[in-house]
Amino acid sequence: MLANIKDRFPVFKKKPNLVFFDTAASALKVDSMINSITNCYSYDYANIHRGIYELSSKLTKKFEDSRISVSNFINSPSPENIIFTKSATEGINLVSNCLSKNYFEDDDEVLVSKLEHHANLVPWHLVSKKIKIVAANINNKGELDYKDLIEKINSKTKLIAITHMSNITGSITNFEEIKNKANKFNIPILIDGCQLVPHKKLDIKEMNPDFYVFSAHKLYGPSGLGILYMSDFWINKLSPYQGGGSMIKNVETDKSTYLEGYQKFEAGTPPIAEVIGLSSSIDFINEVGIESIYSYEKELTKYAYEKIKSNNDIKIYGDFKNQTSIISFNIDNVHFNDLAMFLDKKNIAIRTGHHCAQPFMKHFNISGNARMSVGIYNTKDDVDYFVNSLNELKNFLK
Ligand code: ALA
Repeated sequence: MLANIKDRFPVFKKKPNLVFFDTAASALKVDSMINSITNCYSYDYANIHRGIYELSSKLTKKFEDSRISVSNFINSPSPENIIFTKSATEGINLVSNCLSKNYFEDDDEVLVSKLEHHANLVPWHLVSKKIKIVAANINNKGELDYKDLIEKINSKTKLIAITHMSNITGSITNFEEIKNKANKFNIPILIDGCQLVPHKKLDIKEMNPDFYVFSAHKLYGPSGLGILYMSDFWINKLSPYQGGGSMIKNVETDKSTYLEGYQKFEAGTPPIAEVIGLSSSIDFINEVGIESIYSYEKELTKYAYEKIKSNNDIKIYGDFKNQTSIISFNIDNVHFNDLAMFLDKKNIAIRTGHHCAQPFMKHFNISGNARMSVGIYNTKDDVDYFVNSLNELKNFLK
């Protein structure tokens, strides 16, 4: 089933030797998604939710069908819980601004962790005049310290905002214990699922979060599009974050009223072609099967982990217990950027630096590390070539 999968990614026609290990930053693009965006702009394009002519009404239907496809993909209770934003980052900013306006009171606490991506820290800093930000620790392996996190939940905690899968270690958060304690105090939970959703089945009905964000570009889909799931309770409670066309009922020069439901959060012309493109990416993922993707990538990551771990001079961050698709590491006496430049000469793409997770780096007193991350187009041959290249560099520097 995964045979010839590279044929679906046009970049490999131009760069057949590319070993792309930076899917955690953004995935390569699948042909059907590219075609769907090209067709949309070439033949189907008009603004949506506005015109009553054929082009507009047909595209409006396609756009709303994409909302249904996203909803089905994550098993959301309804498409009406899906809000399209310009990025996952914007989704978290939407939530932080709306909660600040409609919910937070002075000295309320928002509980995050030192494992978070900056996108799940800075939006809380921007509204932090009202709230206090409390961060759960990570342990010496770089894993979330669940005990510390649970202990930090108290009656002042008004939101828990935690990643579902770390963009540094690839470890997957177990929300069961967190939810048990959160439910005792009736605390809502926001989950940053950017890294998890491309790799593992997400079941919103089962998880029942209050807010869940992820991005299209990591799903072999277009950039410029984020998805925010919001529960009915919060959709009804919160007032809009941005104002403009598409989200109003009635506007006068000095006041306006807004639509109900998710529509009040989608001001302005949305990323129309991107939403339609995302639906094609989801079709592609469904065709391959998210369960198959998970087992294939987990095995591949384990294969890479064992090979990298056998080097005594390489420190891997994370403990590989409940982890997939990402391995970050440092090689003794080799700067991560030198490594990335060396690998680039060999057509291997990895990300190096702080990965937008400076609190994690601070915990280990490092300025960054090297991260290899896999997607469905990677193979064991890619891993072998990558590990041989690491050895080549180490021998060269000896
Ligand atoms: N969030 C992306 C990463 O971790 C950009 O690289």
